[in-house]
Amino acid sequence: MATPILQGQDPSSTPTLSSGAIQQLVRDNRLHSSMFTSQKIFDLEIERIFHRTWLFVGHTSEVPNEGDFRLRMMGRQPVILVHGKGGEVNVFLNRCRHRGAAIAEREAGNAKFFKCWWHGWIYDTQGTLVDIPRADGYEPGFKSRIGGLARPRVESYRGFVFASLDPNVPELLEHLGRTTAWIDYMMDASPLGGITLTAGVEKTFYRGNWKLTGMDGYHTDTVHASVLEVWRKNSNDGLGVTHRGDVTSDRLSRARAFDRGHTLLDYLEHKTDHLDGYLNFLRSLPGGADYIDATYARYGEEYGKNVLALAGDPHVAIYPNLQLIGNQLKIIVPLAPDRTQIVMLPVMLQGVPDSINEARLRVHESFHGPASAGTPDDHEVFERAQRGLQGSVESWIDISRGLHRQQIDSDGTISGHLSDEVAQRGQAREWLRLMTRE
Ligand code: FES
Ligand SMILES: [Fe+2]
Repeated sequence: MATPILQGQDPSSTPTLSSGAIQQLVRDNRLHSSMFTSQKIFDLEIERIFHRTWLFVGHTSEVPNEGDFRLRMMGRQPVILVHGKGGEVNVFLNRCRHRGAAIAEREAGNAKFFKCWWHGWIYDTQGTLVDIPRADGYEPGFKSRIGGLARPRVESYRGFVFASLDPNVPELLEHLGRTTAWIDYMMDASPLGGITLTAGVEKTFYRGNWKLTGMDGYHTDTVHASVLEVWRKNSNDGLGVTHRGDVTSDRLSRARAFDRGHTLLDYLEHKTDHLDGYLNFLRSLPGGADYIDATYARYGEEYGKNVLALAGDPHVAIYPNLQLIGNQLKIIVPLAPDRTQIVMLPVMLQGVPDSINEARLRVHESFHGPASAGTPDDHEVFERAQRGLQGSVESWIDISRGLHRQQIDSDGTISGHLSDEVAQRGQAREWLRLMTRE
């Protein structure tokens, strides 16, 4: 029998979005679909989430040399990540202090100075305004009064540079909470504790909302059915694949929700259970046995086993715009209610044999690349979701899966079956917290 259509007013359709109206969008483990489609809600997300909490901007290893820069977005604000003179990595608003033009245009490069394209004001890599053409038009001392480019608040953890447009945001470590242990797992997959992010970048767009992206342990059997079939047939085809066994293992893997909307698909126990097979695969690579020895030598056997088992894939999402999944960093860039850019950077490990980084790159390409079998299917299904969500009658979607069997673990995180919507509920809680702050 068909389900009766649930009629009712769209809580986001009120002229002003009061906190009370926003509260109405997340109810009884259901979400109102206007959270994904409304321009008004999207605008408020930019203002209250992307312009007020910590955002991942980039990793120091993307800009290894003095003058290296990358352009990124913080909500609607373009910013420049740049390796400055003293070795520090700076983040500046990409906005000239004269009449506001973006001063840097190339997405990545190396520069000693940034010269504004409009009237030629020049800034150095410290953001200082160093020259104004035809300066006689200004009173003495004008240049030093302007100073330089505006800076967001910036803090970093293990080279992960975060910035916030709100100077009063809590300290980064408080924001990251328990996720630092999972960032460590990615970094410590290198026996030198370092990564390299110069293998390239993949940028894709999908016609769907930014909140549709990922941390969903429920979709794998359907969206990725064809990939799973290949993996099951061929258990020996690459790093990060061979030791997975049954990737959707119900037995040992967990979905977890930390504070502040951060979430984890925790494969650690599952992968340590398959560690022997993976170590055999590593030993088959040139230099693989040395990598295993170097890992144990640096980290000891207990932690070293976890590091090897995870193979640099913590599968953690740091709310709202960073995911460390597979062999990559993934940055989520919201552009419109129904348009999102995904920036993916393959992670290469420092201090490992080339054979391992090559295998990591091949696995990245095969699941996440433009001609791959994974991410394009995810994006296709997000677009289908967005099409369905446009409707304004049956407006509620359900995220209650596994509510009856979730638990609070000894470390205070909420955890559940891998396929349960623990992450979706955790993200919705943080969304509501941030969106209802005046
Ligand atoms: S806007 Fe940059 S120099 Fe005029
Ligand atoms: Fe997927």
